Amino acid sequence: MKVGILDSTLREGEQTPGVVFTVEQRVEIAKALSDIGVTMIEAGHPAVSADIYEGIKRIVKMKKEGVITSEILGHSRAVKRDIEVAAELEVDRIAIFYGISDIHLKAKHHVTKEEALKIISETVSYAKSHGVKVRFTAEDATRADYQYLLEVIKTAKDAGADRISIADTVGVLYPSKTRELFKDLTSRFPDVEFDIHAHNDLGMAVANALAAVEGGATIIHATVNGLGERVGIVPLQVVVAALKYHFGVEVVKLEKLPEVASLVEKYSGIPMPPNFPITGDYAFVHKAGIHVAGILNDPSTYEFMPPQTFGRNRDYVIDKYTGKHALKDRFEKLGVKLSDSELDQVLAKIKANPSARFYRDVDLLELAENVTGRILKPRPPENIQAIVSVKCDSNVYTTAVTRRLSVVQGVKEVMEISGDYDIIVKVEAKDTNELNQIIESIRSVKGVRSTLTSLVLKKL
Ligand code: COA
Ligand code: ZN
Repeated sequence: MKVGILDSTLREGEQTPGVVFTVEQRVEIAKALSDIGVTMIEAGHPAVSADIYEGIKRIVKMKKEGVITSEILGHSRAVKRDIEVAAELEVDRIAIFYGISDIHLKAKHHVTKEEALKIISETVSYAKSHGVKVRFTAEDATRADYQYLLEVIKTAKDAGADRISIADTVGVLYPSKTRELFKDLTSRFPDVEFDIHAHNDLGMAVANALAAVEGGATIIHATVNGLGERVGIVPLQVVVAALKYHFGVEVVKLEKLPEVASLVEKYSGIPMPPNFPITGDYAFVHKAGIHVAGILNDPSTYEFMPPQTFGRNRDYVIDKYTGKHALKDRFEKLGVKLSDSELDQVLAKIKANPSARFYRDVDLLELAENVTGRILKPRPPENIQAIVSVKCDSNVYTTAVTRRLSVVQGVKEVMEISGDYDIIVKVEAKDTNELNQIIESIRSVKGVRSTLTSLVLKKL
């Protein structure tokens, strides 16, 4: 099966509300994408702003030096000026887009169908005359008049486009329809290669991308973490996992996906939900007792592929959904041997406290101490100093959060910093319980998005 990924994190991804990448970040993201092996990188629309222009310039330079190996694309409206700007950057391919549905022709472009064909033909051949490869994107293709879409493809192809992107711009496709659409297009235009650009407005972008591939599409547009206009497009990590599982093809280095996902999470400021497929914190974390009992015998009972395939590890959590197999395994891992009746008693205590969200290892050891009367855990530290690194929400003033943090009980010092985190808070507590309470209070301060705690044990 011939299929590759075009990653558009730097173009479509930056169209996510609130997301902007610096030139340095663009370069770093492009390098990471090339390193995992995406076929094409849509590096931006250079006519939009000077930093995007600069970013593409740097990325193209790296391509020329062999540091980046993916094909580099520049986005362009169907206007000569945009094409010239992309061409002077010496991208490998110019991607010209033009809305071709009746609504786009009328309300956006104010042209007739015939006029649009002329514009498409002229701009594609103008781009081609600069000696670059050209892709034409039929924007809003999935709401366009079908006969007209066919005319558009023929026009773009005759003018020199060797790839056509079928853009489901507002996300209205449905998998079986998508497959039929691409089957028909690829049989009518055997010498054209097709891209699928699927938006996720109805949550079907990945399914539509796979269906397009079944129908003959050879490039899937994706963004890391599914970024993009409105709710975004196909998430890279999900579609490549689906390609591996369903079609047996490995189009990028799967084990590197978490690294790329966290890089883009950090630079985009859009947090990844824990229940996000493949790279979310909980993607390989099990909970229900029956599930955990199953995976302890054979992980494939509740996993479709080993987490190691994606550079992840499996885990399970303990709460009222836990069963004795999970509990026994957890205590064994903690080096504690409990009899069956002791395990039953610990489990009964867990079930009797149904609102506890997570049992940490220290909590479990404490329960086991209560049941057995033996000392099992190291004495909890006393007089603790901790450094809490705080990340703020992207839409708040750090200084305002700093002020709110400085009055939290137990907080000794607050400093604004720059780097991965925004604020450093120094706290002192008499024991771990109190420390946990302070950290909870810090987390509940308005504007605080996440925290990371490091401990400095100190006799006061
Ligand atoms: N090809 C040619 N012209 C197009 C077009 C296309 N694919 N898509 C839209 N246009 C035209 C519209 O008809 C409108 O023209 P008008 O001014 O004659 O009415 C104009 O482009 C869009 O309006 P606006 O964005 O307000 O115009 P602008 O000249 O101030 O800015 C950009 C143009 C491209 C510089 C600016 O919109 C921008 O920075 N956009 C970000 C990139 C973007 O929108 N990408 C969409 C990718 S799907
Ligand atoms: Zn899009």
